[in-house]
Amino acid sequence: MNFEHLLIDNNDGIITVTVNRPKALNALNRQVFTDLKNCFEQYKGDASVKGIIVTGAGEKAFVAGADIKEFDGLDAEKGQALSKRGQDIFLQIEEFDKPVIAVVNGFALGGGCELAMACHFRIAEENARFGQPEVNLGIIPGYAGTQRLVRYMGKGKALELLLTADMIDAQTALRYDLVNYVLPKGEGIPKAQKIIAKIATKAPIAVSETIKLVNDYYKSDADGFAGESEAFGRICDTEDFKEGAAAFVEKRKANFKGK
Ligand code: CAA
Repeated sequence: MNFEHLLIDNNDGIITVTVNRPKALNALNRQVFTDLKNCFEQYKGDASVKGIIVTGAGEKAFVAGADIKEFDGLDAEKGQALSKRGQDIFLQIEEFDKPVIAVVNGFALGGGCELAMACHFRIAEENARFGQPEVNLGIIPGYAGTQRLVRYMGKGKALELLLTADMIDAQTALRYDLVNYVLPKGEGIPKAQKIIAKIATKAPIAVSETIKLVNDYYKSDADGFAGESEAFGRICDTEDFKEGAAAFVEKRKANFKGK
């Protein structure tokens, strides 16, 4: 499948998805959302895919937010629909069954910070800048920024960022638990590839169940403890569990099949 605003690189099952509108600092217009939706739909359940890296094209930005030039004509009804669509597509990323890592290589503002937060975790390159500047525009985050920012850094720090519209640099994002690593420019993608390749050596069903259960922690209607016991039981019936335990006892490398 071809995408208007995404570049796709498939490196032995590790997919790098690059949002590609560098002249607009990779701002998320409607077509970028359509492309992201189709892209994650296409790869979900594909056994050859080990994981997805999300990054931005060009030297300056990961993604500089929702496309402000598309805001003209928004009213209450259209605004709610725009927000709901963005939230749903970012949820699709969060619920992807393989690891999704954001490599933040510049500005991650507004919807860009929200896209990075929808990924399972984030690697910042040294020039990364994070922020939710929506109050400067007289609006609020619409793609779950008020929710996910609090999860990562806690209420006080999140509210300060949301209310002041200040940007934080990569080292501050690391201190605030928004990112897992800060690396020199150009080292983010190799690091993400290495992490995904490592996870790909583990049992695929155990990996996808773990992602689901950790996501469930944040759902008010999900009983995560019950979900974990139920999934644990289900996994005990898999061939991979038997293979993993046998390989440990026999002192050999496990050969997982995703069954
Ligand atoms: N939407 C549309 N176009 C954008 C954009 C955005 N979010 N961010 C940057 N651009 C465009 C600029 O208009 C400019 O285009 P032209 O050359 O055609 O004028 C081009 O990208 C380069 O940008 P700048 O000249 O502004 O670059 P800079 O280096 O001087 O500044 C910046 C960089 C600080 C990131 C600045 O571009 C900026 O503040 N951008 C807007 C960031 C923002 O407010 N994001 C939140 C959007 S609202 C949102 O995301 C809401 C939501 O959750 C739903």
